[in-house]
Amino acid sequence: MSSVASEAAAEGFLTRFGSKPEGVWSAPGRVNLIGEHTDYNEGFVLPFAINRRTFAALGLRTDGIARVASSFTDEVVEIELAKISNQSVAGWSGYPLGVAWALIQAGAKPQGFDLFVDSNVPVGAGLSSSAAIECSVALGLNDLWGSGLAKSALAKIGQRAENEIVGAPTGIMDQTASLFGVLDHVVFLDCRSLVAEAIPLGLKRAGLEIVVMDTKVSHRLVDGGYAARRAACESGARELGVSSLRDLETADLNRAKQLLDPVVFKRVSHVVTENARVVETVQLLKDSGPLAIGAQLYASHESMRDDFEISIEELDCAVEVSLSSGAIGARMTGGGFGGAAIALIETSKIAALEEAVAKEFADLGFAKPELFSVFADDGARRES
Ligand code: GLA
Repeated sequence: MSSVASEAAAEGFLTRFGSKPEGVWSAPGRVNLIGEHTDYNEGFVLPFAINRRTFAALGLRTDGIARVASSFTDEVVEIELAKISNQSVAGWSGYPLGVAWALIQAGAKPQGFDLFVDSNVPVGAGLSSSAAIECSVALGLNDLWGSGLAKSALAKIGQRAENEIVGAPTGIMDQTASLFGVLDHVVFLDCRSLVAEAIPLGLKRAGLEIVVMDTKVSHRLVDGGYAARRAACESGARELGVSSLRDLETADLNRAKQLLDPVVFKRVSHVVTENARVVETVQLLKDSGPLAIGAQLYASHESMRDDFEISIEELDCAVEVSLSSGAIGARMTGGGFGGAAIALIETSKIAALEEAVAKEFADLGFAKPELFSVFADDGARRES
């Protein structure tokens, strides 16, 4: 099945490299419904793949060289595969080249390649444009190099590229959502066992949509905030004598409060209560459908705002305006410090929401936000 977008990627490849690609692979961005900063604490997450995708057109070369190009810059980065390291690559090419590197580390038999990337996943909005690049390229190189790795292994390849070549200490959620997404389902992932279960979301039947509200405040996971939160979680776990915060229940928080520094306690408290909210949300979706999960979404936002302290004024504003516009629930989504919030809302209320958010942002002197609906889509696949 080849779409217009996948043909555009093949066309871009032809223009840049003068030949047709051997195939086009695509992978989606993701929205996290709930379960934030729980993945690297071996907890629970509930993301879904969205109907915004990255397309990777690939062709093999015989000289051990990788050339990467994209529709968003004129630059073509060229490097010998054997020379890829966190010192030798910088910028966006670190994602695809990092994937090639991680596949080689995992024992793949590498061959040079040309790559052209085209994408409609917004960058810096917290919708995992980076995981979409990683997963489309990982799937493509896995096929062309005959590596035969399963999707769960490819998720780890993407994460390793991001951790070790790009230098962002992120967890496994984004790559899993991008690879394992299922139309109209959320992906319930246990980040300890890495067992993923697709749970029906049922938005259409309930007359609901999920609106992404991109604040246009760009978030960067290589900046210090994300790593600092991760370090606080690790120190909290160490002081409480557990291997990860996954091992704590809400009943343990009293003891944690006595033992921990107040800031570390707040970080721990977010993770422990967030894990509980993910489990509750899954149960509510199964029992009653998406109309029932509003309180969990907002409680998650409050916890990120007050305890994990990763929200910003623009995200708080988008969430509050959503609720006063009649949303079932709303929360910031993704790593934080910028990016997007989501509102779960009846279709008939979206126009009023858009107007109210635009007005409030303008009144407060914030950048003009961008709002668009997304649906839960299928994960990464070969397009042609
Ligand atoms: C980013 C990271 C994920 C996850 C989220 C926060 O998206 O890439 O691994 O930690 O932040 O939930």
